[in-house]
Amino acid sequence: MDYIIDFKEIVEQAPAEEPARQYYFMDRVRELVEMKKQEGYAAHCMVEVMGCQMSAKDGEKLLGILERCGYTVTEDDRDADVVLFTTCTVRENANMKLYGRVGRLKHQYERRDGMIIGITGCMMQEKDEVEGIRKRYPYVRLVFGTHNVYKLAELLYQTLVTGKRTFEVLEDTKLIVEELPSDRRYRFKGAVNISYGCNNFCTYCIVPYVRGREKSRNATAILRECEQLIADGCLEITLLGQNVNSYGNDIPGSTSFPELLAAVAELPGLRRVRYMTSNPKDLSDELIEVMKTHPNIERHIHLPLQSGSSAILKRMNRHYTKESYLALVEKIRRELPEVALTTDIIVGFPGETEADFQDTVEVVQQAQFDAAYTFIYSKRTGTPAASYEQVPEEDVKDRFDRLLKIVQESSAANETRDLGKTMEVLVEDENKNQEGYLTGRLSNSVLVHFPGPKELIGTMQMVKLTESKGFYYFGELVGRQSEAQYCETGSI
Ligand code: 5AD
Ligand code: SF4
Repeated sequence: MDYIIDFKEIVEQAPAEEPARQYYFMDRVRELVEMKKQEGYAAHCMVEVMGCQMSAKDGEKLLGILERCGYTVTEDDRDADVVLFTTCTVRENANMKLYGRVGRLKHQYERRDGMIIGITGCMMQEKDEVEGIRKRYPYVRLVFGTHNVYKLAELLYQTLVTGKRTFEVLEDTKLIVEELPSDRRYRFKGAVNISYGCNNFCTYCIVPYVRGREKSRNATAILRECEQLIADGCLEITLLGQNVNSYGNDIPGSTSFPELLAAVAELPGLRRVRYMTSNPKDLSDELIEVMKTHPNIERHIHLPLQSGSSAILKRMNRHYTKESYLALVEKIRRELPEVALTTDIIVGFPGETEADFQDTVEVVQQAQFDAAYTFIYSKRTGTPAASYEQVPEEDVKDRFDRLLKIVQESSAANETRDLGKTMEVLVEDENKNQEGYLTGRLSNSVLVHFPGPKELIGTMQMVKLTESKGFYYFGELVGRQSEAQYCETGSI
C-alpha cells in the first residue's frame, strides 16, 4: 500500500500550538486509516496498561486519541493493528512482565501486515531499557515516554507514513497539554490528574527520574474536567497525583490540595471523590477538616509507611519518624473514626537490620491497617539506594514472609467493623466468580459482593453487610434505588 504523501509538507502545515497540533495529526491519521480500510485494513487497536492508576489514566488518553484517529478498540491482541503498552518500572518484576508480553507478540507481528507495536510509560524513560528495545526487539516500531503521551497522533502518523521506527523520549517537560480526547474504561467513575511527577526523591524510588519534577495542573482546568465527567455520568472521581498533599506548591499563590478537594466535593451531582496518594510528611489538619465536613469524600486514606524504623525512614528521605507517623494515625482515627487506612511497606531496604524490621512490625500492630501492600525492596539503577549495601536475599525473604502474616493478623480486627450495617455501595461490575452476583465498593473502598441484576452496574445501592470474608463482605440489596424510587419513598 503506497500513498503519495508529502510528509515534510504535512508537518510544515501543522499548527505549532497544542492541542491544535495534535488534533491536526489525528485528522491526518484518520484520513490515512480510511484509505487503508479500503484495502482491507481492520484498524483495530488495543492499549495494555501495566502499573498504577497514573498509567491507567495515560492508557485512557491513548485510547481516546486512537479512536479519534479512526481505530476501533479490540480486547484481543490477535486482532489488533496497533498495540500500545503503558509500562511501569517501579520494581524490577514490572520490567520482566513487559518483555514477556512483547516477546509473545512477535509471531503476531510477523503475520499481520503493517502492525504497530508501541511502548510508552515509565520504563521508556530509562535509557538502557530503550536501547535494549532498539536492539533486541526490532519489531517494536514506536517508543515514547511519559512526557509526550499527548503526542501519540503525531508520532503514529510519522511511523505510518515513513515506515521507519519512531523513538522519541524527552528528559522532562514543563508543558501540560489540556483538552485531549480520552476513552474512559468505566462510564460511572473516572480519574483526573491533579499533578504530574514528584519532587520527593525517596532514595529507593525511580518515579522522580521517570515522571520528572512535580507539575501541578491549573485548578480551573481540573474543576472543568471534573464537571465534564459528572455531566457524562460519573458518580465517582479519583484525583491523582504522586503526592496530592503537595499539590500547588510549584505554582505561587495556588489553591492548596484541601481547597481543591473541597471544591471538587462541592460540585453538584458528584456522589464520591477519592484521592491517591497522600505522603504522610505533609498530610495537613486542613485536609482532615475538609474530609470531616464533606461526607462525599471517601472514607479511605492510603498512607504509605514504607518502614517503621526512624533510622531507615531517614535514609529513605521520607521526612517523618516512627513516632510522628503513629501520631498521625492516631489523629486520623480520632478525627475520622470511620476511615479505612491502607499502606505500602518495603521490606529489605539497604541496611535494614532485624531491629529496624521489628520497628515496622510494631507500627503495623499499632496502626491496625485495613490493608497493607508489602513489597520486597527492588534495586533501581540511578537511585541513591542502589549504591547502598544490600540486605542478603534470604533475610529479606524471611522478613517478608513474617510481615505478611502479621499484616493479615493485625487487620483482622477491622474485618468485621461494619458487619450488620446497611451501607451505600457503588456497583462496579458483575462478580466473575459467582453467577448472579455483583461487586461494588463501600465509601472506604472495601469490596462487597451481593446478588443482583447487572442493570445495577454504575448505580449507588444500599446493601446490608451480612458476612465478612476478611478483605471483603457478602451482602444483600436493601430495596432497590433508582433515583426516582428513592425520591418517591423518601426512604431506603
Ligand atoms: N522497591 C520496592 N518497592 C518500591 N516502591 C517504590 N519503589 C520501590 C522499590 N524500589 C513501592 C513503595 C510505593 C509503592 C507504589 O511502590 O512502597 O509506595
Ligand atoms: Fe516515589 Fe517517594 Fe515520590 Fe512516592 S513520594 S513517587 S515513593 S519519590
